[in-house]
Amino acid sequence: MKRKSLIALTLATVMTTGILAGCGSSEKTEVKNKDLKLTIYCGLMEDHMVKVVEEFKAETGIQAEAVRMSSGEILGRLRAEKENPKASVWFGGPADAFIQAKEEALLENYVSPNADKIEDKFKDKEGAWTGIYSGYLGFVSNAKLLKEKGIEAPTSWQDLLKPEFKGQISIANPGSSGTAYSALATIVQLMGEEEGLKYMKALNENVKSYEKSGTAPARLAGQGEVIVGISFLHDGIKYREEGMKDLILTSPKEGTGYEVGSVAMLNGGPDEEAAKQFIDFVLSKKGQELGETVGSYQFLTNTDAKDPALAEELKDTKLIDYDLDWAGKNRSELVEKWNKAIN
Ligand code: G6P
Repeated sequence: MKRKSLIALTLATVMTTGILAGCGSSEKTEVKNKDLKLTIYCGLMEDHMVKVVEEFKAETGIQAEAVRMSSGEILGRLRAEKENPKASVWFGGPADAFIQAKEEALLENYVSPNADKIEDKFKDKEGAWTGIYSGYLGFVSNAKLLKEKGIEAPTSWQDLLKPEFKGQISIANPGSSGTAYSALATIVQLMGEEEGLKYMKALNENVKSYEKSGTAPARLAGQGEVIVGISFLHDGIKYREEGMKDLILTSPKEGTGYEVGSVAMLNGGPDEEAAKQFIDFVLSKKGQELGETVGSYQFLTNTDAKDPALAEELKDTKLIDYDLDWAGKNRSELVEKWNKAIN
């Protein structure tokens, strides 16, 4: 096992201060784990990450640190660190980028005993990645601004091209954001590559700016910076619950894409034993249900876990038959084509 250095992770970082006493984990596990450490690259919301890491530390006694990045950033980091990996787990964010990472031999197969509780459609059959949650793409709009301008909330992908939305739509960059890549792959699956890229070029006319992370568009709509954000709908619920009361959620009548938020062990990472324990934890009912406690409202993949009550409003969203394998394997190529199309 290689030694890992716990240095200079510049983004939001969570560090342990040691083994917590009286946390309910058995003495035996703590003794076994007391010298274990773990670095996690994390692609889900920061407060969700903090909660899960703190609970994991308390339960296992393992020292853990995590850093939040968007999907494309994590993939970039893994490529750059290929010869000397610093992290051992990738936790959260859509599986598309995990599939690409698997193709590039950046992941290590691990079939957790808890993967038994997860349906086949939510996991890689060799254990390269396993789904922890599912989220649906849609439109998060500012009802106050819509009313002021006398516009209806969008209910189709085509609605986003209307001239009244010029400069009023936010989406992230599919190169950095897993959310935005899911949107790009959804459009291409719905319309075909040529028409899909034409659509993205037309949409570009209405986009105010391309954000780095997939949650930003929903937040910007909540702040009244744009009228519509294209994000995962559960992120819209989170911001609404946190006080952005003007937010309303709609989804496209043609159907929308979805993510399988995933976890994976990294190839050659320094802390394999700790990584396995972390993956077991986040696939468990307890690990998955932590999301709701910090406002993460994705549907859960463990069949014993209870979906968040607030996810109920999303359950009738019309979904496309999203081809995840295709979307993952074509990710780099499609992002490049998108870049060409909009520039
Ligand atoms: C948020 C969502 C997650 C999603 C992630 C993707 O955290 O709540 O469900 O997986 O964004 O992040 P990205 O910045 O890569 O779009």
